[in-house]
Amino acid sequence: MLIVIPQVLSAAEVQQFRTHIAQADWQDGVQTAGSLARHVKQNLQLSDTAEPALSLGKHILRALAQTPLFISAALPARIYPPKFNCYRNGGHYGAHIDGSLMQLPNSHLTLRTDLSATLFLNEPEDYDGGELSIDTRYGTQTVKLAAGDMVLYPSTSLHQVTPVTRGERLAAFFWIQSQIQDNTQRELLFDLDQSIQRLTVELGSTHAEVVRLSGVYHNLIRQWAVA
Ligand code: NI
Repeated sequence: MLIVIPQVLSAAEVQQFRTHIAQADWQDGVQTAGSLARHVKQNLQLSDTAEPALSLGKHILRALAQTPLFISAALPARIYPPKFNCYRNGGHYGAHIDGSLMQLPNSHLTLRTDLSATLFLNEPEDYDGGELSIDTRYGTQTVKLAAGDMVLYPSTSLHQVTPVTRGERLAAFFWIQSQIQDNTQRELLFDLDQSIQRLTVELGSTHAEVVRLSGVYHNLIRQWAVA
């Protein structure tokens, strides 16, 4: 299931990001492609060990921590520090699946990629092509979001970015290890939580059935979470 998280960044924040990114040095993205993806990747990336990527990445992590829809959908255990890319002049990324395990920078910890995220940093009208196309059980879904919006999708999905034939496409991308490894279980918890949130508004948080459903939600997490 693809989940769109609207307005992770405000218009003002996106503008601020664009200003920093415009002055940055872009590197050939092939340098960071795994051996499988090397043949299909043609884009530019910011160095993740230098500014502005470090500060902007932290800014995104702070924004996500204050985005309840993201927490509900991802149930994050670990988040890879966001990376930034730019596609222009026919740049594209052919069909691939993201690597399964990633070493977290400056850490001994490994991150299992359960969810992949793309946060769009410029408007869809700014470029032609550049769609994120994701194979799902229900067919191929195509995503091209407003600046500041983000899509989350299972990292098990085959996906690609189609060639950008006009303008440029700027985005941040990263991975999440969820407390719930199984996609179906995580999606059930998301649906349940969204329903509880709406019932809480209608009935109040102390209503007996809201309390009971919240208990079910937490007891399912207790059953399914990878400690
Ligand atoms: Ni990918």
